[in-house]
Amino acid sequence: MATYDLVVIGTGPGGYVCAVRAAQLGMKVAVVEKNATLGGTCLNVGCMPSKALLHASEMFEEAAHSFAKMGVSVSAPKLELPAMMNFKQQGIDGNVKGVEFLMKKNKIDVLKGTGKILGTGKVEVSADGKSQLVETKNIVIATGSDIARLKGIEIDEKRIVSSTGALSLDKVPGKLLIVGAGVIGLELGSVWQRLGAEVIVVEFLDRILPGMDGEIAKQFQRILEKQGFAFKLGSKVTGVEANSKALLAKVEPAAGGAAETLEADVILVCIGRVPYTDGLGLKEAGVALDNRGRVQIDPHFATSLKGVYAIGDVVAGPMLAHKAEDEGVAVAEIIAGQAGHVNYDVIPGVVYTTPEVSCVGKTEEELKQDGVAYTVGKFPFTANGRSKVNQTTDGFVKVLADAKTDRVLGVHIIGREAGEMIHEAAVLMEFGGSAEDLARTCHAHPTRSEAIKEAALAVGKRAIHM
Ligand code: FAD
Ligand code: NAI
Repeated sequence: MATYDLVVIGTGPGGYVCAVRAAQLGMKVAVVEKNATLGGTCLNVGCMPSKALLHASEMFEEAAHSFAKMGVSVSAPKLELPAMMNFKQQGIDGNVKGVEFLMKKNKIDVLKGTGKILGTGKVEVSADGKSQLVETKNIVIATGSDIARLKGIEIDEKRIVSSTGALSLDKVPGKLLIVGAGVIGLELGSVWQRLGAEVIVVEFLDRILPGMDGEIAKQFQRILEKQGFAFKLGSKVTGVEANSKALLAKVEPAAGGAAETLEADVILVCIGRVPYTDGLGLKEAGVALDNRGRVQIDPHFATSLKGVYAIGDVVAGPMLAHKAEDEGVAVAEIIAGQAGHVNYDVIPGVVYTTPEVSCVGKTEEELKQDGVAYTVGKFPFTANGRSKVNQTTDGFVKVLADAKTDRVLGVHIIGREAGEMIHEAAVLMEFGGSAEDLARTCHAHPTRSEAIKEAALAVGKRAIHM
């Protein structure tokens, strides 16, 4: 029987990164994966394919609408959807191969099959009707998450799709109705809107992107509306009927009232994700779940069963790949006797639309709720030289700092490349830096990042270009 120091169940960004770090620390490691390919949701049907389609559809949009004004004359671009899907698949394959390479390089055994925990130190791996028992000193559960479903609405992944189906449609829908104005709805809505779909988003709450800063979300909604998105906020889809031509969605005000029917060719249901623990045998093994079905852990990622840990989407916290990765590193270090740690106050979030939206730290709403006195500095990209010459001036930077100490508590950006720009704020906050520190740091000219420095200067009411 094979014996290991660590068996990681699941090879998403949490699982494979944990395995690599543990191997670096000298452990004998195996990963268990039930999917045909490694990499989990993120590489196969999440972060990476969505970013490939966002990039390709953005290029399509630019060629159609932005090239001419720069004096680049091309004939109207033609969409070859199968080729675009092939581009996406090449990206997936490249990344999956990269994870396979990392497993080999770090001498990590890959056990293909479904992992079930039989008790402390025992994992059963089953595939094709056969199973093997693996012994190990430690187990990390990194089984991720699955789509949340809407009661009474069956996802067939062709006409009524989750994000997985929406990443592989075989033609551009005439009308795309999206349920949920969260990250998936706005990213995948952007892809299909750019490629020609008429997009309407039905959202239960009275705002888009719950959890993000309210002012940012409001301005972002206006930008998306200019791009052609329609929003039905404070509304819910209560049922879908299909005829041979179209889907008929029954939409009701969230607060109750008369229903209306909206027609669509494709409906994308993206109302969040739920932890995935099917087939793991957690109940029988004695691993406790919380009231939302997530594996319950202590501050050191330990579950209620000795020697069993859990990380990533299957535990509490933001369902983000980089959060899962950092937890993977931390738990490997803890198992090795080191002081692994994740700073949950400084986890950036990015929506990869055009423009992008990014954030780190507290929103204004959270600071108000916590009764923290804060100062605000804002700077619009309309006043940033580089954005002006590129004619991409949508959006602004907002820096929130503690009114007493000037320590930066949150940074929020809408704008091109906002997802790359947020990291200087994350590093600053990791080191407990102030708005003054940010304002006094020399920023290269001409860059969009100068808008962050100017927003930090604006905290002290001394922005130069405004
Ligand atoms: P997962 O990536 O879900 O991996 C879990 C793995 O465990 C899977 O491979 C599964 O097959 C395997 N598994 C489950 N049960 C068993 C078992 N019993 N035995 C063996 N194997 C098992 N996050 C970002 O940070 N940035 C983004 O841009 C982003 N874009 C996204 C776009 C979409 C469309 C979606 C759906 C998600 C996106 N996410 C993004 C979220 C991100 O994908 C997740 O946060 C991340 O994948 C979580 O990693 P994980 O390791 O916890 O689990
Ligand atoms: P989400 O939680 O971001 O958004 C779901 C939205 O659906 C919310 O606005 C919610 O109010 C709404 N909603 C819930 N029930 C509803 C109903 N019955 N009718 C109408 N609206 C309803 O979830 P989403 O977009 O499905 O994404 C899942 C996860 O994947 C997120 O947690 C996110 O972190 C992750 N993700 C991250 C990305 C990124 O980092 N760029 C990209 C895509 C996904």
